[in-house]
Amino acid sequence: MQDPIDAVLIGAGQRGANDYGPYALRYPDRLRFVAVAEPIQERRTRFAHLHKIPLEEQYESWEDLLSTPQKARGALICTQDQMHVGPSVTALQRGYDVLLEKPIATTPEDCVQVIDTAAETGRQLHIGHVLRFTRHFQKLHQVLRSGILGEVINVDHRENVSFWHMVHSYVRGAWANQADSSPMILAKCCHDFDLLLWILDRKCKHLSSIGQLVHFRPENAPSGAPARCLDGCPISDTCPYFAPFVYLDLLPLWRDVADTSTGLVKFAAKTQLRAPGLVRAVSKVVPFLRQMSDYRGWPRSVLALEPTSDAILEALQNGPYGRCVYFCGNDVVDHQVVLMQFEGGMSVSLTMHGHSHLEGRSTRIEGTRASLNAFVGFRGSWIELNEHRSDRSFRYDTTGEVRGAHGGGDVELMTAFVKSLQDGSSQHSLTIARQALQSHLLAFAAEEARLGKRVVDMEEYSERYLS
Ligand SMILES: NC(=O)c1ccc[n+]([C@@H]2O[C@H](COP(=O)([O-])OP(=O)(O)OC[C@H]3O[C@@H](n4cnc5c(N)ncnc54)[C@H](O)[C@@H]3O)[C@@H](O)[C@H]2O)c1
Repeated sequence: MQDPIDAVLIGAGQRGANDYGPYALRYPDRLRFVAVAEPIQERRTRFAHLHKIPLEEQYESWEDLLSTPQKARGALICTQDQMHVGPSVTALQRGYDVLLEKPIATTPEDCVQVIDTAAETGRQLHIGHVLRFTRHFQKLHQVLRSGILGEVINVDHRENVSFWHMVHSYVRGAWANQADSSPMILAKCCHDFDLLLWILDRKCKHLSSIGQLVHFRPENAPSGAPARCLDGCPISDTCPYFAPFVYLDLLPLWRDVADTSTGLVKFAAKTQLRAPGLVRAVSKVVPFLRQMSDYRGWPRSVLALEPTSDAILEALQNGPYGRCVYFCGNDVVDHQVVLMQFEGGMSVSLTMHGHSHLEGRSTRIEGTRASLNAFVGFRGSWIELNEHRSDRSFRYDTTGEVRGAHGGGDVELMTAFVKSLQDGSSQHSLTIARQALQSHLLAFAAEEARLGKRVVDMEEYSERYLS
């Protein structure tokens, strides 16, 4: 058996501490964190405590950590979107193999710089495109490769961001303003562009795009709405974005879980919706139910380090997540459509919007031999196929075995990262990173097309940055 891979964590926030951190605790034989860089002391100390990192290996910033001699094989870069280039380029140059959260960077030039640095240094660069690693998209890839659809003529892919996720991340949260984060089409859909390029295995020739911020603006605020939900909002009983409904009752979250799960989880989520008191009482003897009665995961974990009900209430009274959604000063779109023509004449549309009742990605693919419909939601996913001539239909349940965020994709990505470091070849990871770059270029081009109201030729656009 091999020793665990040593790694440093840069940015102990949601992704670093709550999504990737637990991997090392669950599989100590595979991954061990030996240092952390995080300016927020409570986060740094908590991560260090959980991973037994000594005081001298706890740093306040990535600059401090990466100015010391290399101390591990891997570096996980989990800082916010606008802070990816500095730590990843420096870590690669210092000899670390890097797992970098998406987006690679927020401009095409910076993305190219990161990829070029990986190529020059010969280090591995993995990008957090976790959905590629889910059972659902692996199966979709396999079905497309099998040829059963015949020639693919048309694709309609939708990223249906739920109304409560939209306001959490893109109205009240860290991705609300483009100047501080990224265009939403990059933040949310670099995944989708990457998946489309991968499953269709063709290049995009040209694209156009429309979209804007329609709803979450001050002029749409209900009459008499205060700046914060808890300050006497007159429509607190009917507003879908009312903060206590989203974060204290958590009803939209449990609806999503109930609608997309099966078995015991479905039953428990439905009971939680109808009788939360009952779930709380039974959880005293059935520990599994405490995950619902005392839920501390996302999105609650963004509001407080220890998201008890009291801490959440305090956050709603004083923090950004208690603000009325019409007065948040947000400027990213709440819907955007990208129309693309792929090689061979295939037409592909990507719709991203933040007004969905349930969270989930849906894909419809029309081929000359069969049609395909697919859906991946919070806790479940499936693919359906209908053959034109025989009228035979197939249904695959693609729900991941490995539970956890992103349909098990987070865990599988980490496993691939660790294995790849153990095997030691940078070539495979660089190929995937270059593919990730293509997905980012599509997102940047879509934004340019939307703002400039024009059609972008992708060959010309790519040449601008990749010559
Ligand atoms: N792969 C995915 O599907 C996926 C999902 C969600 C988020 N993300 C991406 O992950 C990244 C992190 O998102 P998050 O939600 O964890 O954000 P976060 O704000 O919770 O975490 C970022 C952390 O970086 C820390 N930080 C700030 N300056 C630093 C410095 N100088 N040195 C070290 N750390 C510093 C912050 O204090 C914070 O704790 C973002 O780029 C986001 O877009 C990816």
